[in-house]
Amino acid sequence: MKFGRLRVALIGAGQIAEVTHLPVLSEMSDRVELVGIADPAVERAVMLSSRFGIDNTFGDYNEMLSSLNPDAVFVCTPNKFHSAATVSALRSGSHVFCEKPPAINAREVQEMMVASKEAGKILSFNFHYRFRSEAIAIKKFVDSGDLGEIYFCEATALRRRGIPGWGSFTNKEIQGGGPLVDIGVHMLDLALHMMRFPQPKSITASAYCKIAKRSGVGLMGGWDPEKYSVEDSAFGFVRFHNGASLILKTSFALNMKDRSIMNLQIFGDRAGATVFPPEVFAESHGELTNTAIPFAESKDCYKRSVESFIDSCLGKESTIPTPEEALAVQSILDAFYLSAESASTVEL
Ligand SMILES: NC(=O)c1ccc[n+]([C@@H]2O[C@H](COP(=O)([O-])OP(=O)(O)OC[C@H]3O[C@@H](n4cnc5c(N)ncnc54)[C@H](O)[C@@H]3O)[C@@H](O)[C@H]2O)c1
Repeated sequence: MKFGRLRVALIGAGQIAEVTHLPVLSEMSDRVELVGIADPAVERAVMLSSRFGIDNTFGDYNEMLSSLNPDAVFVCTPNKFHSAATVSALRSGSHVFCEKPPAINAREVQEMMVASKEAGKILSFNFHYRFRSEAIAIKKFVDSGDLGEIYFCEATALRRRGIPGWGSFTNKEIQGGGPLVDIGVHMLDLALHMMRFPQPKSITASAYCKIAKRSGVGLMGGWDPEKYSVEDSAFGFVRFHNGASLILKTSFALNMKDRSIMNLQIFGDRAGATVFPPEVFAESHGELTNTAIPFAESKDCYKRSVESFIDSCLGKESTIPTPEEALAVQSILDAFYLSAESASTVEL
């Protein structure tokens, strides 16, 4: 489609649909017409449709797809349902924007990719950290070569006691994992994006559940320790074929000083950088220099992420993140857990 209004539908009427996607999409009436929303919890779909002026609600997304034929679909279900919903939407002729993590495993992401190619429809994912102004600023330094060869990154997504007790974030069967797939995945994607997605060679990782199986202080509300079935922290080391390496640290609960740390540190042979806050560390005129980028503060990265997808559907810009990138991220997540479970290094 070129430069018209996209008829957009949502699968999943939970928190992310309510707090992020619908407010953003409803401000884009020049490009978007919200046509339908489906959720087996029909009362959620009804509540959001009345709030956001959507005419059609469904309990079954297949019914929605066949009766509305939307141009684009946002998949906002728990992780276990990403792949099936995405494949159905693509096969019925819709472009798809799927929430992160891409799916439960790499095989599912491959199926999503194949469906996208066979249908000739766009498939993208909500890795919104790439759209933070800080990340956009640092990527300019990376792409211009200012950092030189990037040979090491440290990706950190740590919370001291940030266990999300609502929804299904602590349920392994439904989400596929804990902090690694929920918040670690954002910093992993951002690191790979900065490193230009080098080919991974091996992963050595550990995952733990040392704190969340007992009750205690919750800085993001309470949770049920008895129903907690995911890791509460995970740490891994990834080697790439180009010689670069990456450390990823992630937790919902960890006995550390700070409340939370979300950051990426990038180390090149000409300069280094942190993304949050954005700063570049180099050597110049015989001095060591720290260059802060003070005004790269973003509040609307979700909006930019959604806009980028909508504009790519309208033929106005190219699609990022791509399905191939999502597959690379998911393959690392799979190998990460495999390494942790087998207590060994996994070759890719
Ligand atoms: N990009 C981000 O930073 C970010 C932030 C929060 C959540 N998310 C992702 O968004 C997704 C949803 O998270 P949430 O917090 O909104 O969860 P949620 O539990 O609040 O909502 C999920 C909704 O999906 C519905 N659902 C379940 N199965 C369905 C199906 N087969 N068809 C249609 N709907 C179905 C549930 O009834 C529920 O209403 C997850 O994948 C999560 O990782 C991403």
